This record gives sequence, structure tokens and C-alpha cells, in this order.
Amino acid sequence: MNVYDSARMAEILAPLGYAPGDDPEAADMVILNTCHIREKASEKVYSELGRLRKAKDRRSADGLAPMVIAVAGCVAQAEGEEMLRRAPFVDIVLGPQTYHRLPEMVARAHRAGTGVLDTDFPVESKFDHLPERPNAQGASAFLSIQEGCDKFCAFCVVPYTRGAEFSRPVAQILDEARQLIAGGVREVTLLGQNVNAYHGLDSGGAETGLGELVEQLARIDGLARIRYTTSHPRDVDAKLIAAHGSNEALMPFLHLPVQSGSDRILEMMNRGHDAARYMEIVAALRSARPDLALSSDFIVGFPGETEADFEATLALADAVGYAQAYSFKYSARPGTPAAGLPQQVPEEVKDKRLARLQALLEDQQQGFNAATVGQTLDVLFERPGRHSGQLVGRTPYNQAVHVVAEGFRVGDLAKVAIESCRPHSLSGRITGPAIAHAESEEGLSA
Ligand code: 5AD
Ligand code: SF4
Repeated sequence: MNVYDSARMAEILAPLGYAPGDDPEAADMVILNTCHIREKASEKVYSELGRLRKAKDRRSADGLAPMVIAVAGCVAQAEGEEMLRRAPFVDIVLGPQTYHRLPEMVARAHRAGTGVLDTDFPVESKFDHLPERPNAQGASAFLSIQEGCDKFCAFCVVPYTRGAEFSRPVAQILDEARQLIAGGVREVTLLGQNVNAYHGLDSGGAETGLGELVEQLARIDGLARIRYTTSHPRDVDAKLIAAHGSNEALMPFLHLPVQSGSDRILEMMNRGHDAARYMEIVAALRSARPDLALSSDFIVGFPGETEADFEATLALADAVGYAQAYSFKYSARPGTPAAGLPQQVPEEVKDKRLARLQALLEDQQQGFNAATVGQTLDVLFERPGRHSGQLVGRTPYNQAVHVVAEGFRVGDLAKVAIESCRPHSLSGRITGPAIAHAESEEGLSA
């Protein structure tokens, strides 16, 4: 989501003459787009700001125009005024819902000598005020369809920093998808903190779910692949499950976080489902799409987690068999219900549990990758590789593949025989010409 938001901030600043640059030291403006989800991410912001302050001072000493420093995203949202107090050299502090007002904030920052703060949850939607997407977005692009969260998992800051659930209207999403495709994009990843809680209105004012939205997107000419992230088990409905079975453009890879395999912990986390319900959903999805590859997020060391609870998490991971996963030590976040719970788990215990879980998940990922060696899969090329003539693309299961692809370009889709695997990527050989969109079988053939 932050990658998407950063791209949109760059787009809205383009008419003012700003363009993305690689060197913060030489920049007229630096925007730090921040994440508040765990303590470590938040802490990085102030150390990064320390470095930027020095760069800003050097620029002034050299007699150049002053560097504008903006802090965006969820740390800015959570800290607000406090950030301007603690880091007075920061010019702009803005939350994730107000970046459409950036041009105005930049103008104010240039005028005023003091910091500009905008962490509102405005009534207008930023999406109604952002410019059209420019061309040249690459082969694969993010498309934000939903934001915010009303689930209030006991450990999570998102409902506080991103705000209440909001779904963009269907027509706006279809338009943005068409703009992206016209710019050469062949794959969109639909984004939302709770993407499958999507319930945007269609032009007749009726609520539309994610399953239906996927069907409508798939009908757009030129769109070869659709993915979505991040979904919540509670919002997987029959229509979405059916879409996985019937829609060839919907890729057979799903990030469906479970967080824990212990019913007691899931209850304390306020997740709204138990381990058995999660397994039922996985079974239903796999019966619709037998080759569906799954990924998840896990938290170890939630307050009160016992050895038995943790074993239940290992058992669930073992039973599902993930193609990929992210796992984290529980991090107490200010203002969330779990932060005040007794029985916080000691850091050393969390470390040990995380290592055990990650060893299992790493094994699963390597096993999954190894099992695709020998298969022929559709690969969408996304970027040039390190060696000349090499392209890097993705399989339907979201695995990175390195291919010698003379005569092929980023944005091409081709059949690739997978020949070998490394821990986090595959390599293979192209077996045929580039696949035109209409002929693509998108992994159903695999
Ligand atoms: N501590 C550790 N991990 C967290 N996540 C969210 N909040 C916390 C926290 N307080 C993880 C969850 C979520 C992912 C985006 O980050 O696993 O799915
Ligand atoms: Fe956070 Fe996801 Fe839970 Fe919402 S559903 S509170 S974003 S972990």
C-alpha cells in the first residue's frame, strides 16, 4: 500500500515540476512514507530523519534552495504534532488520507516558516482528487480498491492510523485499470488493508463484492492477470471462492493471513475465526482451484501465548503447507488493546519461536519451489535481469523466475520450462513465442 501511495504522491507532484530521484542528498524535497505496524518500522523513521537533517543542513550551507522534508504515512498519522515538536526541521507531516492535498501543503511550507500538519480523515476521498495514472507503469501495477479496517484485531494499529473501511466505487477502479492497461500494464494487484471486505458501489448504487469486481476487471481487454492482497479469512465469501475456480485471469496465489493456529490466541486477537474455520476456507478455495498456492502472516509471542499455543501454530502451518509466508514477533503498539495485556512474552522466547516457525516456513517454500521444477508455467516478464539478455518474471504462483529471453520484452508473457530452483527464485527456458492475451491459459494448464 505504501508503494502504491508513494507512486501516487509522485504523480500528484509532477505538475509542480518534481520527479522521483535516486539521491536524497541532492533532492529538493524528500518524502519519507512511513509504516507504523511494528515498533521497528516506526523507530527507523527518526534515525532516517536524523540523516536527512544533516543533508538539509549541508544543502543550506552550500547556498542551495532549502530541502523540503515531508513525513507521510502511518507514523505521521499516529504522531502528528509530536513529530513536528521532536523533529522541528520537518516541513510537512501528512497522513495517508490527505496526500491529494500535497501541492497545497508544499506551497504552504514554502510560505510559512513553521511546519505544516495535515493528518485529517477528510470527508472527501483522496481518490476523487488524484490525477490520471501516467503511462509506463511497467508490466505489473498496484491498484488500491479499498482502505482502512473495521476489524480491530487486538494487536493492530491499522484501524487507528488508516481509519475506517472505505471502498472505492466500481467505475473508478475500472477506469484506473483501463488507464494502467493503456500504459502497458498486463497484471494488476488489487490492494486494500482488508481487500476482500471490498463493497464498492456500482453505477446503479448497488454494493459490489470482490468476486464480482474481479469478474468485471477480467473482462477488460488486455488485462492478463489479477491478484489481490491482503485478504481476511472472515471476508472470503462464496462468490470470491467461485471466482478462483472460474476466472483464468485470477492468479492461483492467495495471501490469506491466519496469524496463529491456536483458538485461544485467535480469540484473544479478536480475529473472528478459529483454526478449524480457516482450514475450512482453505479447503473450499482449494476445491475451487486445486493448484492454489497460499501465503500467510504469522505473529509469534502474542501476550499469553504458551508453548502449546505455539505448537498449534506450527501444526496449522504444517497442515496448510504454504508456498510463502511472513512471520513476525509480536510488537506491542501504543493504543492497541493487546499492548496492555498482562503476560507479555519475553523477547528470548519470541526469538526462539520465530526461528522455529521460520525454519518450517522456509522448508515449505523451498519444497514448493522445488516441486515446480520440470513444469512449464506462464511467466510474465517484469524487469530486466542482472545479465544481458536476461529477464525476470513471475509464475502464476508469484515465484520469481530468471530466464534468458533474447527477443522478449518486459510485459511479454511466455511459457517457461522451469529447470532449477534456488531458495527464493527459479530459473527456466522459454519454450514458445510470446503469448497474446486472448490465448493465455494463465497457469490453468500447468
Ligand atoms: N506485532 C507484530 N506483527 C504485527 N502485525 C500487525 N500488527 C502487528 C504487531 N503489533 C503483522 C500481522 C499483519 C501484518 C501486516 O503485520 O501479521 O498481518
Ligand atoms: Fe490489522 Fe488486518 Fe486485523 Fe485489520 S484485519 S486490524 S488490518 S490485522
